[in-house]
Amino acid sequence: MEIGELIYQGKAKSIYKSDNDDELIALFRDDMTAFNGEKHDQFSGKGVYNATVSAFFFDYLEKHGIKTHFIRMIDEKTMLVSKLEMIPLEVIARNRAAGSITKKLPLKEGQVLNPPVIVTDYKDDAKGDPAVNDDLILALGLLTRDELNEARRTTLEINKLLYDFFDELGLVLVDFKIEFGRRGNEIILGDEISMDSMRLWDKETGESFDKDVYRFNKGDVMTAYARVVEKIINWKKEQIK
Ligand code: ATP
Ligand code: TYD
Repeated sequence: MEIGELIYQGKAKSIYKSDNDDELIALFRDDMTAFNGEKHDQFSGKGVYNATVSAFFFDYLEKHGIKTHFIRMIDEKTMLVSKLEMIPLEVIARNRAAGSITKKLPLKEGQVLNPPVIVTDYKDDAKGDPAVNDDLILALGLLTRDELNEARRTTLEINKLLYDFFDELGLVLVDFKIEFGRRGNEIILGDEISMDSMRLWDKETGESFDKDVYRFNKGDVMTAYARVVEKIINWKKEQIK
């Protein structure tokens, strides 16, 4: 597989052309950023951890009927994906209140949200990723009414699958962010599903196993990420017993 021209350098991943026009190569780098890039560091191994976990979840979701951009791994931090026309929305699902929502609304950190809450931010770093509701998504022409309904249904389905999976591992999936894109007239799950884009708490102790460890200097972030990878590997071993 030839890695082609760099077409986009994001905060955590670099996107390259591949030898097929319908496919792209996503390289998960070791860069870690928080607070819209204000905090920035590099952690050796981070790219591998996030690529491994993303690949695992794309595969897991595909097996449960969710369409994703994942094709295969090229090496342990490089993923071949289907090229999507990304929809500039961060779709966030929340099972418990944490982070920004507890600052804006009278919700306590850790408060259960039942039913789960889906919120959407318009992706524009310069504007601080403002929140948008369904009417604004339609007014901006980002999705049709049918696509909006489908994206919502798919997000709830993904949330249920991931929540139940982490529950088995002894972790609470507090919240996560996903991105969708278009391939022809289909809406497909793209980007990544990793410890960078979710909050995971230990069910018993409440300890964080995600980017909050880095955001709020709660300990060694790579130890936390490695624990999640280890739990997933152990889960896989159990499946083939
Ligand atoms: P943010 O962290 O706010 O998502 P970023 O652009 O810095 O922004 P990265 O993950 O570093 O994030 O960059 C990856 C980029 O590739 C994102 O803009 C994402 O929307 C885009 N992308 C992800 N999957 C695909 C795909 N299958 N086809 C095209 N673009 C994709
Ligand atoms: P949120 O509470 O909205 O933001 P913050 O992390 O600033 O408190 O985040 C909810 C979840 O979505 C959290 O797990 C982080 C993830 N997320 C991203 O990965 N990227 C983003 O741009 C945003 C807004 C959230």
